[in-house]
Amino acid sequence: TTNIRVAVVGDGGVGKSTLAIRFIQNEFIEEYDPTIEDIYSKEIDWNDSKIKFLVFDSAPQDEFYSYRYYSLRNQEVFLLVYSVTQKNTLNMIRDLYDRITDYVSDQNKDPFFILVGNKIDLFTKRQVPTHQAKAFADELDFGFIEISAKTGQNVNQLFFQIANAFCNR
Ligand code: GTP
Ligand code: MG
Repeated sequence: TTNIRVAVVGDGGVGKSTLAIRFIQNEFIEEYDPTIEDIYSKEIDWNDSKIKFLVFDSAPQDEFYSYRYYSLRNQEVFLLVYSVTQKNTLNMIRDLYDRITDYVSDQNKDPFFILVGNKIDLFTKRQVPTHQAKAFADELDFGFIEISAKTGQNVNQLFFQIANAFCNR
């Protein structure tokens, strides 16, 4: 079994916890407590072997502590989550990325980053066009995917993308 440590980060309310729970339990929880910071795990079959994802959800109120904690705990993948319905949640990703890499660079780690646009089911409220986020992801060499943690659209594909990127390096 290969373990992959995945940290889910991003602005408050973008759907980090919903994404984590959707992937792990395949459920949509409308009233999930946003203050909880938690770790989930799930094993999948992958090319005759197994991958165990360790998913670290983060809570916004102690984000500084969280990112330090993540990097110290050797995160290998960071999901930089924004909501396609709120432009400002994409705009803050650059800063978040800079802070994460500051920590990570101290440890000779080379984590993989994926930009994740959530809430695509809210198509009438969309503020961030796909091409704009994709251009940003390309510029910084991030992976990119748009999902709905609510409907589950593309959530498994996201984790396949992680597995692919991780196993091909
Ligand atoms: P914090 O922990 O406070 O930073 O928030 P979070 O990023 O964990 O967001 P959370 O998962 O708590 O979701 C915030 C709200 O958005 C909740 O009401 C969710 O039900 C809702 N939500 C999350 N993902 C989606 C989605 O894909 N579509 C829709 N329509 N709503 C979503
Ligand atoms: Mg949360």
